[in-house]
Amino acid sequence: MRKNIVAGNWKMNTVLEEGVELANNVNSLLEGKTVNCDVIVCVPFTHLTSVNAVLNPECVALGAENCSEHAKGAYTGEVSASMVKSTGARYVILGHSERRQYFGENNEQLLAKTKIALENGLLPIFCVGEVLEQREDGSYNDVVKAQVEALFSLSAEDFGKIVIAYEPVWAIGTGKTATAEQAQEMHAHIRGVIAEKYGKEVADNTSILYGGSCKPGNAREIFAKPDVDGGLIGGAALKAEDFMGIIEAFN
Ligand code: 13P
Repeated sequence: MRKNIVAGNWKMNTVLEEGVELANNVNSLLEGKTVNCDVIVCVPFTHLTSVNAVLNPECVALGAENCSEHAKGAYTGEVSASMVKSTGARYVILGHSERRQYFGENNEQLLAKTKIALENGLLPIFCVGEVLEQREDGSYNDVVKAQVEALFSLSAEDFGKIVIAYEPVWAIGTGKTATAEQAQEMHAHIRGVIAEKYGKEVADNTSILYGGSCKPGNAREIFAKPDVDGGLIGGAALKAEDFMGIIEAFN
């Protein structure tokens, strides 16, 4: 069956020393505790190796926030999936709305990134979600369906390795969360879209995380919904105690 997961996305925050301290704090809060979910921290490229050195892999897994769609070569400033993998990372966030919005990442590119991540043994956390206008004009189900369908040339085996994160763009960093009912409705829709293509078993085994102003105070209600398998956490992942509070929503 699918796993419950709480993943932090640090975005472009913390210099190296602060990042290592935060990772250390998360690690110490988790060591020796029994928690009912997998925990992942996704950190800036510059922090991967140093953060990997302080994490106990039995408590916290490491991820990156992006990778290149190219394998290697003359792509100045890019970081490849094999480079990410070589740091000890197991996961990579792909298709975050900030990458789609500010860096123009499109479905074709995101499919290429997903494929190369999988070829290199990384597990993608693939983000989908509508903007406010699409929520308001009622097109959100179709928008998110198309974002998920961008991956439908993958084999069932490869699709089965992907974690989906539903992050309504209007809820990211705004303090405005989707209601637990809105999250459940969309997660069930996404699972249905996956089931139509890959069958019920793959759909039932896919972890679908909610992201967008998730906090210790609202996580329990959202995670209690049957199709919500955890969260992708931005701001609240930058404070070890808050991140821990969200992890404990599964206890
Ligand atoms: P916030 O939790 O800060 O709203 O960010 C959510 C997010 O974008 C995680 O990827």
